[in-house]
Amino acid sequence: MLYQLTEELEMLRQVVSRMAAEKVAPRAAAIDEEDTYPWDLKELFTGQGLLGAGVPEAYGGSGQGLPAVCLIVEEIARASASASLIVAAQELGLMPILLAGSEGQKQKYLPELASGERICAFALTEPNAGSDAGGIKTRARREGGRYLISGQKCFITNGGVADVYTVFASTDPEKGLKGLSAFIVEKNFPGFAVGKKEKKMGVRGSPTAELIFEDCPVPAENLLGKEGDGFKIAMMTLDRTRPVIGAQAVGIAQGALDYAVNYTRERVQFGRPIASFQGLQFMMADMATKVEAARQLVYKAAFTIENAAELGVSPAGVSRYSSMCKLFASDVAMQVTVDAVQLLGGYGYMKEYPLERMMRDAKITQIYEGTNQIQRLVIARSLLEKGK
Ligand code: CAA
Repeated sequence: MLYQLTEELEMLRQVVSRMAAEKVAPRAAAIDEEDTYPWDLKELFTGQGLLGAGVPEAYGGSGQGLPAVCLIVEEIARASASASLIVAAQELGLMPILLAGSEGQKQKYLPELASGERICAFALTEPNAGSDAGGIKTRARREGGRYLISGQKCFITNGGVADVYTVFASTDPEKGLKGLSAFIVEKNFPGFAVGKKEKKMGVRGSPTAELIFEDCPVPAENLLGKEGDGFKIAMMTLDRTRPVIGAQAVGIAQGALDYAVNYTRERVQFGRPIASFQGLQFMMADMATKVEAARQLVYKAAFTIENAAELGVSPAGVSRYSSMCKLFASDVAMQVTVDAVQLLGGYGYMKEYPLERMMRDAKITQIYEGTNQIQRLVIARSLLEKGK
């Protein structure tokens, strides 16, 4: 199926693009340097209703769907990948509720997450369960009308700033990944604490922290779906959010390309702008081609996933598109930002210029929401599954 951005989505792109250039770009270097969460930009985005684009209108969002979330994240990431994570991490944190929440859970939590009144986070990863997400050791023991959660999570985006966490824990360790369950945990539940905040190479200003659960009581009504549904909920969530990381990667790459192209027009060496040298022109041509190819795959994936039921796309097909676009776009972001630094020569290496930041930011897109090795595994498995 071919896809096309609707007029409404094109308008959304223009509005967010202008906002990012005017309000986000001037803040990008300081967010990186200071490594503090940009509350001002979070307020700006919530004021524009940008955190609820993926949430249906019935639950307080704008109901524009996954392509709109991708557009918003891409345009913000052109200026600041860290700022774009405000939107991307909210979508990730709320997705388990959207996919598996009861009507009551959706009514209770989604409106304030869609409006941005409350921030959320997705708590899957543990020190010994990264790529092997099924290896989670955090335990949830049923005790009357509640569960007691004990264990530790790490590398949690929005850890410490989030009000609501979707947490994956084992209700039945003997069943392995089929014994995992998903819960909604609020930050003020007793026995819940935020541990060490990580110091990172990139996406600084977007907090990444440890979470600690010590017999944290969670009402049984906060269980998402049924006991044992946790792993599927996590995987279905990632199927719908990896394209958002693909979009973030496209944004980072486009931002780097734009900056480098402008620079080559102005930088004079050997008596002429370096843009006139064919060696550099060829580099820029390759970079632009890769960015556009990545963008097309991201939006094709977003549209396909959004309309999977109508298009008759299987769950394996959804996973395949999701992983393909995240894999391709993040590799492109890394290649393009490295080349963009090269186009600026020594200046590209200096913190005075934004390209070294973009290069550091690009790296995480090859790692989070599943490393690119895991994306290849998902793609290959879906190809080999019969009839897909
Ligand atoms: N949708 C629905 N069900 C799925 C599914 C999907 N996409 N993928 C797997 N399942 C089901 C399978 O059908 C299977 O169920 P059945 O036995 O009933 O058929 C079950 O789940 C187990 O699946 P697998 O056998 O494929 O499990 P596995 O352990 O071999 O592999 C994996 C799974 C793909 C490697 C998975 O663990 C994975 O994606 N790992 C990467 C984890 C990840 O992305 N972490 C990122 C953390 S979030 C983050 O980074 C966010 C941040 O802070 C920014």
